[in-house]
Amino acid sequence: MKAYNFDSSAPLDGVPGAAVGLKLVERDPGTPGPGQVQVAVKANSLNFVDLTCLYGAFPVDGRIPLLDGAGEVVAVGDGVYGFAPGDRVVANPHSNWLAGPPAPGSNGMVLGIVVDGMLGEAVTLPESALVRLPDTLTYEQGASLPCAGLSAWSSLSGGPSKYAVVPGGTVLTQGTGGVSLFAVQFAKAMGCRVIATTSSAAKMDTLRAMGADHVINYVETPEWGAAALELTGGIGVDLVVEVGGPNTLPQSIVAAKTGGRIAMVGIVGGMGSIDYTAMLPVNHKVLTLYANGMGSRRDLEDMLRFVDANGIAPTVDSTFAFEAAPDAYRHFAGRGHIGKVVISHQA
Ligand SMILES: NC(=O)c1ccc[n+]([C@@H]2O[C@H](COP(=O)([O-])OP(=O)(O)OC[C@H]3O[C@@H](n4cnc5c(N)ncnc54)[C@H](OP(=O)(O)O)[C@@H]3O)[C@@H](O)[C@H]2O)c1
Repeated sequence: MKAYNFDSSAPLDGVPGAAVGLKLVERDPGTPGPGQVQVAVKANSLNFVDLTCLYGAFPVDGRIPLLDGAGEVVAVGDGVYGFAPGDRVVANPHSNWLAGPPAPGSNGMVLGIVVDGMLGEAVTLPESALVRLPDTLTYEQGASLPCAGLSAWSSLSGGPSKYAVVPGGTVLTQGTGGVSLFAVQFAKAMGCRVIATTSSAAKMDTLRAMGADHVINYVETPEWGAAALELTGGIGVDLVVEVGGPNTLPQSIVAAKTGGRIAMVGIVGGMGSIDYTAMLPVNHKVLTLYANGMGSRRDLEDMLRFVDANGIAPTVDSTFAFEAAPDAYRHFAGRGHIGKVVISHQA
């Protein structure tokens, strides 16, 4: 079978700052051992963390990339009772986190970073790393959901913290990347009001069309936290899905209501230091800041059931063939996408 490997000897051209490249190699798919399932991968999607792998954030040389993938079961090993050839499945990026809160024993095996990931024609995984893909979702849609969808899902449901949003609550999202668009869709389906931020007029229209109740251009309105506060009559939002990092956190703290929550998800707005003065309202407003780390296999099952029941269709920005996977990375690195960049093995 063919698979891509991370290759630090040839950084990917067309991705400024890349320290690592992608090499198409032949690999023996082997046969699944006891408890293992072999999957013919049909689709993948890219996440910000996959890009950071190219920047050298993790020691991934020689590993198969990508956290996200969906496909069809082609063979099962001894003792596998949950799946049979022909089943449509999607992998949980945390391949050994089954349910409940994260723990030292369940927080390590992240596909595409710590162990081989999903960017191959076939993968062999423990049965426990897979869940069924609902019939209403294509492989491309299914592959869009695990990493970004789970992070949005756990932000809203509270994940292990159980700080779930309630219908009628207000959720603030940032930008139009994978996590944030799922957060908009899930929050609307949960009966919440959404205030979304973004960088351009065209993307403001996209967010409104997706159901966002208010959209703020954070380039034109750098004090968007105060603008969100005003939109809530000075009360503040119940939850901020904080994907930006140190450059957005101060405004997120301004936007949050007393007793509100901030789901600490990412750093897509860039790294940098943060003035602790901006953090003081965390205390004054008695805010809860909590992380999620995507979610467990149980969370993935719950989220897929929710997506299925609510007819939620992931926003797919663009689709590239497996053979053009490096172009998918180049496009994603260009930062012009809205939603998910997908690789289809069926294209
Ligand atoms: N903790 C976890 O389990 C987990 C899981 C998934 C992702 N993450 C993290 O969450 C972040 C988002 O991931 P992703 O895959 O959704 O990323 P992505 O698709 O690459 O997001 C890109 C978008 O982020 C928006 N953005 C950039 N700077 C911004 C800023 N200053 N303020 C608001 N929006 C900004 C831009 O949208 P606009 O042009 O519309 O502003 C941009 O198109 C990443 O840091 C990722 O590592 C964490």
